[in-house]
Amino acid sequence: MTSSRARLAVLASGGGSNLQAIHDDLGARAHEAPATLALVVSDRISAGALTRAADWQVPAVPLPKERNHALGELLAEHDITHIALAGYLRLIPADVVRAFHGRMLNVHPALLPAFGGPGMYGQRVHDAVLRAGARITGPTVHFVSEHFDEGAIIAQWPVPVRSDDSAASLAARVLAVEHRVYPWCIAAVTAGQISLGADGTVQGRPAYDFDLFAPEPRHRHPFAG
Ligand code: GRF
Repeated sequence: MTSSRARLAVLASGGGSNLQAIHDDLGARAHEAPATLALVVSDRISAGALTRAADWQVPAVPLPKERNHALGELLAEHDITHIALAGYLRLIPADVVRAFHGRMLNVHPALLPAFGGPGMYGQRVHDAVLRAGARITGPTVHFVSEHFDEGAIIAQWPVPVRSDDSAASLAARVLAVEHRVYPWCIAAVTAGQISLGADGTVQGRPAYDFDLFAPEPRHRHPFAG
């Protein structure tokens, strides 16, 4: 089993709370984990993600923007098979996007295709959701394509917008849901249960996203009492 495990790289620019959730999830799956966290890359030398990785003795590599073009080489050196973007703000070089077609995931903190695209990251996403008056938001996990925030959608999970929400309170509730949904998707894709079909659609996804968490009552749909 160990030899067939995927080798996952997580790319993060910030604190790395999703990285933490991915690490914890793979740890909880123990010998059944379909992937090993093999590399953490950040464009910011001071990113919390690098500190976390170093604490776990996972290779943690700063890749400043002048070295962005060397990402493909770095991934090859570490035998990486899959990539999870977790708040990574640098553009992924086209050669890497092509090489990891169907094997690179991203999490976005809103329900794509709304509130996505260039410049829509962090607080700006939640500000835009509030300004628009949307009543429902939530994370989207998708395959990465050459078009920003446009790859095929693997999972979404609704988070209600409250009338007294600020961008910060909304961000915190969405982030808590990301921590559940993203590791689940990473496990499903690295295990080969979910894949990107030749026609560009997602294969193997449950008919209804909420089934993803059905066995665990704490993961029930937030609107179910
Ligand atoms: C998350 O909100 C994610 O949706 C977005 O960037 C943020 C990363 O947060 N892509 P963290 O560094 O994982 O805490």
